[in-house]
Amino acid sequence: MMGFEIIGTGHYAPGTPYTNDDLTRVMDTSDEWIFKRSGIRQRHFAPEGVGASDLGAEAAKRAIEMAGISPKQIDYIVFATMTPDYFLPGPGALLGAKLGLVGVPALDIRQQCGAMIFGLQIIDGLIKGGAAKTILFVGAEAHAGFMPWDNWDALANTPGHKPVTPEERERANRHRALAVLFGDGAGALIFRATDRDAGLRGLEVHTDGRYAELLYVPGGGFRTRPYWNASMFDQQAHVPRMDGKELFKFAVTKLPECARSLCAGARVTVDQIDWFLAHQANQRINEFIREKLHVPAEKMPMNIERFGNTSAATIPILVDELTREGKLKKGELNMMLALGAGLHWGCALVRW
Ligand code: ACO
Repeated sequence: MMGFEIIGTGHYAPGTPYTNDDLTRVMDTSDEWIFKRSGIRQRHFAPEGVGASDLGAEAAKRAIEMAGISPKQIDYIVFATMTPDYFLPGPGALLGAKLGLVGVPALDIRQQCGAMIFGLQIIDGLIKGGAAKTILFVGAEAHAGFMPWDNWDALANTPGHKPVTPEERERANRHRALAVLFGDGAGALIFRATDRDAGLRGLEVHTDGRYAELLYVPGGGFRTRPYWNASMFDQQAHVPRMDGKELFKFAVTKLPECARSLCAGARVTVDQIDWFLAHQANQRINEFIREKLHVPAEKMPMNIERFGNTSAATIPILVDELTREGKLKKGELNMMLALGAGLHWGCALVRW
C-alpha cells in the first residue's frame, strides 16, 4: 500500500516579533499574566497588505528548496487557514498563482487549529487513491486583521505615533484574553508518495458543532444582508469571541481521550511513540495532556513561547523547526494532535 513521506518543510514568520510588554502599549495586560497563563512571550503580526497566501508562499518556497524539487512536481495543494485573504475565493488558489502552479488543484480547508489532522487524512486519501503524488500542505494565518486595536503605530512604538485614547484601550481590553494568544505565520510541508514503510498508521478526527460558539467570529456572515456592514464594526463583531475556560477544559479532556483511543486501535503503546507534535494553543493545555498520557516533557516539543498560537500554521511550523534541528528522523513513530474552533479535533500516528 502506497504511503507518504515528508520531503520538504519550511516556515515563515513576518517581521520582528512583538513582546508581551509591547502589547501593554495598546491594552491593560502584563508579561507575567500572559506568560503564566499561556507560556507565550512574543508573537509576529503580518503587516498591512500581507495575507495568509503571501505568508504561505514564503513558507512553501523554503519547503520546495529543502525538498530539492521543481515546483512543477507539485500536483495538489491543500491550504488551511482561518484568516483568508478574501472571503472568497480561498487562499489556495492565490498561493498556486504565486508559486506559478497554474492548473494544479488547490483545496482550502477550514478546521482552524485542528487543520493538520484533517489535512493528513485528505493527503493520505489523495495519495492512496492515486489522485496526487506530491502534495503541498500549507497552514498560514494573518490574525492581525482581527486584533482589537487600530493604533498599530503605538504597538510598534513608531516615533511620533498618536497616543492610544482611553476609549481605544477599553475596546482592546474587552478582547485581551483572546488577543494575547494569537500570532501570525505560515508553515509548509511537502508530502510525497512512497513505497517506503512510512505514512499514516492511524488517524481519528471528530467534530462537535454544538460548541461552535466557544470560538467564532460573529460578524461578516451570510446570514445577514449585506453580509458585512458598519454596525458590525462598531460592535467589534470582526473580533472572534472566545470562551477560553470551556475550550481549555474541552482540549484537556478530548485530546488525551482521542490519543488513547487511537493508540488502542493501532495497537501502539504511548511509550512507543517518539514525538508528540501537538498544536500550541496554550502551554498549560499541553502540560495537562502530557500528564494525562504520561508523556515526558522532552517528547512534546513546544515553541509557543516564540510564536503564540498560529492556528493552522502551528504544527507545520513546529515540524519545520524540528526537521531543521535534525530531531525528526526517518522510521520514527510520531503522533500529531490538535483541537480547533468548530470544534474540530483529532490525532494521527505517522511513521516518519
Ligand atoms: N491580561 C491581563 N489580565 C487578563 C487578560 C490579559 N491579557 N485577559 C484576561 N484577563 C483577566 C480577566 O479580565 C479576568 O479578570 P477578573 O477575574 O478580574 O474578571 C482574569 O484575567 C481571568 O480571566 P480568564 O479569562 O478567566 O482567564 P483564564 O485563566 O481562563 O485564562 C486563557 C484565559 C489564557 C485564554 C485560557 O482560558 C486559555 O488559554 N484557554 C484556551 C484557549 C484556546 O485554546 N484557544 C484557542 C483554541 S484553538 C483554535 O481553533 C484557534
